[in-house]
Amino acid sequence: RQAIVVAVDGPGGAGKGTLCQLLAAEFGFALLDSGALYRLTALAAQRQGVDFDDEAALAQVAANLDVRFDAGEQGQGVTTWLQGEVVGNELRTEQTGGLASKVAALTPVRDALLQRQRDFAQVPGLVADGRDMGTVVFPEAALKIYLTAGAEERAQRRYLQLRDKGQLSDDELQGEGRNVTLARLLEEINLRDERDSNRAVAPLRPAKDAQIIDSTAMSIEEVKAAVVAFAKERG
Ligand code: C5P
Repeated sequence: RQAIVVAVDGPGGAGKGTLCQLLAAEFGFALLDSGALYRLTALAAQRQGVDFDDEAALAQVAANLDVRFDAGEQGQGVTTWLQGEVVGNELRTEQTGGLASKVAALTPVRDALLQRQRDFAQVPGLVADGRDMGTVVFPEAALKIYLTAGAEERAQRRYLQLRDKGQLSDDELQGEGRNVTLARLLEEINLRDERDSNRAVAPLRPAKDAQIIDSTAMSIEEVKAAVVAFAKERG
């Protein structure tokens, strides 16, 4: 029996992470957060003092990445380990996202992570979250979703996510500070999307056979229901 792969791609802040956790629970599938692998490569490189212009050294970091993901209890989220240590809030910051998108633009880094991503596929199935799941890593995926949302909505969601994780200061939560923070997030997200979409290798784009969902005006439950409906259509 072969693993059934559900590939979910799209820009940052579209809600892929939450959606994929819900889908994995719904279908009883494993979960691949491929963005975390790029984020962890960037963090490991930073900790090891690797020069971000040294492609070969970065690829080496990616190849030797010692990571573990613990699913934990339902709703508790995933615990991530890097070289034997728990990675905290640092993993999800927009700063780490920016570094990740820099290392992710390098072919040797992507090559070093390719097989590791494919190894996540296991019976009965896998929900794979990323930018090139349907186009490069799992081109034979049974179901491909491209999840997007307007940039301002995505910045807003990132803001709420950071707030709920207690990662915003009082200044960032109130009055003008709130607007400044939202504007900064929007700028960072746009910059990252641009880099991810315009890179030569595995650029962010929907696979030809992807179902495109614009979630700007949808709740996460509505998005999940739409994907489950697509999955039923496919049997
Ligand atoms: O999804 P997340 O925000 O964690 O991804 C961080 C960065 O990693 C993205 O901006 C992108 O540059 C890179 N990435 C990628 N291919 C993937 C997943 C993430 O290039 N499959």
